Amino acid sequence: MSTLNIAILPGDGIGPEVMQEALKVMETLSALDSSFQFNTEELPWNSDYFLTHGQMMPDDGLDRLKKFDAILFGAIGDSRVPDETTIWELIMPIRKQFQQYINFRPIKKLNGISSPLKEEYDIDFVVIRENAEGEYSNSGGRLYAGAPQEVAIQNTIMTRQGIQKISEFAFQYAQKNNRKKVTSATKSNAIIHSMKLWDEVTKEVASAFPLIRFEQNYIDALAAYFVMRPQSFDVVIASNLFGDILTDLGAALVGGLGIAPSANLNPEKEYPSMFEPIHGSAPDIAGKNIANPIAQIWSVALLLEFHDRKDLANIVLQSIQQVLIKREALTPDLGGKGTTADVGNAIVQALQEF
Ligand code: NAI
Ligand code: MG
Repeated sequence: MSTLNIAILPGDGIGPEVMQEALKVMETLSALDSSFQFNTEELPWNSDYFLTHGQMMPDDGLDRLKKFDAILFGAIGDSRVPDETTIWELIMPIRKQFQQYINFRPIKKLNGISSPLKEEYDIDFVVIRENAEGEYSNSGGRLYAGAPQEVAIQNTIMTRQGIQKISEFAFQYAQKNNRKKVTSATKSNAIIHSMKLWDEVTKEVASAFPLIRFEQNYIDALAAYFVMRPQSFDVVIASNLFGDILTDLGAALVGGLGIAPSANLNPEKEYPSMFEPIHGSAPDIAGKNIANPIAQIWSVALLLEFHDRKDLANIVLQSIQQVLIKREALTPDLGGKGTTADVGNAIVQALQEF
C-alpha cells in the first residue's frame, strides 16, 4: 500500500469551495485503487485564523507542514486582511522555506475547451517559472515617507545557482517528456544586470542539451507570440514576475483561471511541494457555489504526477476532459449553469466509470 500524506490548506473565499471537490476526487481515487491511499489533514490557516490569532499560521506551522509528502493549497485573500499579509506570511514562507524554486504551470488546451483565439490551435506547453527569488523579494525599502522626495527601492535577486537550477529542471523536463524546444523569457536589453546573468546562465545550461532547441525572446514580444502562435511553444522558462504574468495570459488562452493548475516544486523532494490553482480567492464569486473546481482538481493531478503516479494523474485529466466534452456540468466561467459541486460530482462519476 502506498500512501500520500497531504496537508490541506483550503484558505479563503472560493478556496474551501473548490477544495471540497478536490477532496471528493481524492477519496474516489483512494477507493478505486486498493494499493494507493491519500491521507489528508486539513489546516485552517487563512484570514479568519489571522483575525483570531494575529498570524497566518502558528509559530510551528512550517515544522508541521514539513512532515507531509505534499501540500494542497486552495487560495488565499480576504478584504479584511492586506494581501501582502496573506501572501507574505503564508504562501511565500512555504515557497521559500521549502525551496519550492520551480513553479510549474501547464498551458494545455483540453478537448471541450474553446479558446478566445479565433483559430483552434493545438496549445500544449508548460511554463516553468522561477519561484524562490527574482523580482518577488522583500529586499528594499522606502525613505522619506509621504514627502515629495520619497524614494522606493525594490531589489530583484537573481543568483547563478537559482537560474542554473531552474534551467536544468526545464531542460531535463523537456528531455524526459519529448519536448523539442525551450524558450527563455528575458528583457536583458533594458534590465542589464539581472537579466544579463539570466541570459548567460540559461544559455550555458542549454549548451549541455544540444538536441533541444533553445531560444531567447524578449518578454514583450513573447507575450505577443503567446497570442499569435501559441502552438509553437513547448517549454518556456521565466523569472518570477515574467512567469506570473505569462501564465495568466497562457491560462486565458486555454479556458481561463477556473481550470489552470500549478505546482510549486522542490524537485529534490527534501521538502514537501505545494499544488494549487493559479487563481486567487475570487471574492466576487465567493459563497455563490459557482467557482470552477477544475483548476483545484487538475492540481491534484499534478501532485500525483510529481509523486510518480502518472497513471492516476492521467485518469484525473481524462475525467476532467470527459466532463468538458459532455458540457452537462460546467460552471458559468465556461458557459454552463452548473454549480461547483455539480462539476466535482461529474468528475467523480467519470472517475468511477474508469
Ligand atoms: P482571482 O484569481 O481571485 O480572480 C480573478 C477573476 O477570475 C475573478 O473575476 C474571479 O471571479 C475569476 N475566477 C478566479 N478563479 C475562478 C474559478 N475557480 N472559477 C471561476 N472564476 C474564477 O484574482 P484577484 O481578483 O486578482 O484576487 C482576489 C484575491 O485573491 C486577492 O486577495 C489576491 O491577493 C488573492 N490571490 C491569491 C492567490 C493565491 O492564493 N495563490 C493568487 C492570486 C490572487
Ligand atoms: Mg499570479
